[in-house]
Amino acid sequence: MRVLVTGARGKVGVAVVAELHRAGHEVVATDLGAPAHGTSSPGEAHYLQADLTDAGAAYAIVRGMDAVVHAAAIPDPIHHAPHVVFSNNVMAGFNVVEACVRWQVPRLVNLSSEAVPGYIFAERPILPPYLPIDEQTPATPQDPYAFGKHVIEQWCDAAVTRSELSVVSLRPSWVQRDADDYERNLGPIVRDPTRASLGFWSYTDNDDLAVAIRLAVEVSLTGHEVVYVAQPDNATGRRLDALVAAAFPDADIEVRDTTAASPKSGAGGSGIDSSKAQRLLGWSPTRSWRDVLDDDGRARQDGPANR
Ligand SMILES: NC(=O)c1ccc[n+]([C@@H]2O[C@H](COP(=O)([O-])OP(=O)(O)OC[C@H]3O[C@@H](n4cnc5c(N)ncnc54)[C@H](O)[C@@H]3O)[C@@H](O)[C@H]2O)c1
Repeated sequence: MRVLVTGARGKVGVAVVAELHRAGHEVVATDLGAPAHGTSSPGEAHYLQADLTDAGAAYAIVRGMDAVVHAAAIPDPIHHAPHVVFSNNVMAGFNVVEACVRWQVPRLVNLSSEAVPGYIFAERPILPPYLPIDEQTPATPQDPYAFGKHVIEQWCDAAVTRSELSVVSLRPSWVQRDADDYERNLGPIVRDPTRASLGFWSYTDNDDLAVAIRLAVEVSLTGHEVVYVAQPDNATGRRLDALVAAAFPDADIEVRDTTAASPKSGAGGSGIDSSKAQRLLGWSPTRSWRDVLDDDGRARQDGPANR
């Protein structure tokens, strides 16, 4: 398939381009950065510079694709002004969806977020009625990032009702790329599992996520499916009910047992249920923070070199 990857120079985009290449797809990469004007190396994705908030740019690069992976976005609401996060992400998403509809692209894989239900960046903290979070958890976003991601998902709903486009919106939890990421982000949680986590101790390995994205490009389906992606285990190794009791002692959160649907979670299941990804896409996550960090949350000396 000829696949366009937006946000191709970002954390997720780089891994997806590599994964799609490995699987034999023809990949076109796009991002905001300038191209290198020399000759590309063999196997390197053709690169196009485009700001996707510009509708003309989006239309020009989406044309002729069999699938688009839309990973371009500002990936949180805390490093830019709210209107910048909202307008960049929503206009880029709107334009990509619209271009897919008008050019009759068969498949869009839309990188949404675990933030959509609204817990992670809420100005007035809220907690879920039950854990693990799943696709039935209500979406009540308060911040410009999560709200924008929710708007794009709704625009995808509209797109599949008015065209033959099919969409998979993936909602990854906190993405970890390498040993440095794992140690910096998850190390503190490993060392102090009693601290409250509004991502509910979940995380996603970037390479496993790239496989989920490839599967979402390739899977046969119609309509718009929203799917969480998270490693099956949590970042503490402890039982989810014990973590909730310690971190949110006064909260009324029902903790559900999902070990049957997600056997790889073991005793310490994730706060996000990704069994739909496993069912719908055939996704089978292979990695755990334990491959990278020791029991003290430090990068393992015997861990994989670049992870
Ligand atoms: N990193 C995470 O933990 C995480 C978790 C959940 C969802 N996501 C989502 O996954 C996607 C990829 O995230 P990431 O971690 O790779 O982020 P990133 O910041 O590393 O990469 C995003 C890329 O998008 C590009 N971009 C931003 N606005 C653009 C625009 N208007 N036009 C063209 N390109 C634009 C940026 O230049 C950047 O290279 C995003 O949609 C993000 O919201 C990320």
